[in-house]
Amino acid sequence: MSAKNIPIAWIDGVPTVTAQEYAARRAKLFDKLPDNSAVIVVSAAEVLRNGSDNTYTYRQRSDALYLSGFPEANSVIVLTKKGQGKARRQQFTLFVSRQDRASELWHGKRVGIEGARDDFGADRAYSITTLGGNLRKLLATGIEQVFFARGADSKLEARVAVVLKKLGRRELNSNLLDDLRLVKSEAELAIMSRSAQIAAFAHQLAMRSCAPGLAESDLKAEIEYVFTANGNACPSYDTIVAAGVNGLSLHHPAGRTPLADGDLVLIDAGCEVSGYASDITRTFPVNGRFSTAQREIYELVLAGQLAAIDAVKVGASLADLDKACSDVLKQGLKTLGFPLGKTSAKKIALHELFPHGLGHWLGLDVHDVGDAEILVPGMVLTIEPGLYLGKDDERIPKQYRGIAVRIEDDVVVREHGGEILSRDAVKTVAGIEALMAGL
Ligand code: GLY
Ligand code: MN
Ligand code: MN
Repeated sequence: MSAKNIPIAWIDGVPTVTAQEYAARRAKLFDKLPDNSAVIVVSAAEVLRNGSDNTYTYRQRSDALYLSGFPEANSVIVLTKKGQGKARRQQFTLFVSRQDRASELWHGKRVGIEGARDDFGADRAYSITTLGGNLRKLLATGIEQVFFARGADSKLEARVAVVLKKLGRRELNSNLLDDLRLVKSEAELAIMSRSAQIAAFAHQLAMRSCAPGLAESDLKAEIEYVFTANGNACPSYDTIVAAGVNGLSLHHPAGRTPLADGDLVLIDAGCEVSGYASDITRTFPVNGRFSTAQREIYELVLAGQLAAIDAVKVGASLADLDKACSDVLKQGLKTLGFPLGKTSAKKIALHELFPHGLGHWLGLDVHDVGDAEILVPGMVLTIEPGLYLGKDDERIPKQYRGIAVRIEDDVVVREHGGEILSRDAVKTVAGIEALMAGL
């Protein structure tokens, strides 16, 4: 990464976004903003888990991370663009919690008002307790439109809404950040590459450790050990480990189900590095050897996935990728004796066997924002076909019933085609069997 001179800040061995890049992102947003307007981004809420003071692990709202990296709850970002031409003034204001010894005794150091300016590049910073008065002053003159997408801390949002109402400003809900977040910078791609590398390594370790008699949760422990041991990366979603028919539920959380000799196990697990997600699925035989029926279904899903990855090209559409994959799946299922057709007592439609989309955008959110159909360089998407063959469905040839296979990779759209960030996680039948045999 550093050899390519990608501007990443390494903090405690973890690649992260530089202050310059945050400033460049805000500059891009300012460019998109109409004259005399403001953007308000409220932090994610801290949510009680139980009792009165135990909260869920805090995760900042992705829009706030994108614009500033500011990690704390009870904060509000305000970007104001006032005046025109030479008199234009663009300012980044942060409302944050003051440093406070009593609270810091329990919850650790806060960034504070000085830190918001010095370390997070705010032009001005105020205590969150002054939000009402200072936001009102900021917006009272020179602001005609306010972009304010809700969906975070509803208590703070209500305080913002009171100010807007008093000033007679309408809330414009349009999310201006989505288009910026959809196309990643080289620094973002380098961080996502690290996230995918760690997750791929975790999948490989789970494959190597797998043995009949272990439980789903044992493989989850291997996976999450690797995340934590690599710069304290956390899961980017609840780790899915599904033994045998549990894989027929798409998001089966790892539980205590034993891994049975002769079954497949499906692991869908990714981590988050500096806020950026990876999202990888691998399916493999618990005993290290695919049965004939398992291998036939697995190789078909893999062929569909490779066809879709092959179709990743600048200018291609998501529909092109879907078609490339579903053509392969339909042809292969017919060859294996599935009675494909319009759903009936005798016929089965592809969407019954493959009931989810081919993939989704990936970035700060595992299902990332963005509304686009045509691929451009810098987009990142998952490609994750699956086949889920009901165990009691008599339309399905008997030997395949109860098999669930999904294969998921993280792919960057490059000028020359797709670059697979998660390529280190083995996925050929021969590769998986060799790894599991310790070769
Ligand atoms: N891990 C969730 C998904 O693949 O969409
Ligand atoms: Mn996914
Ligand atoms: Mn996934």
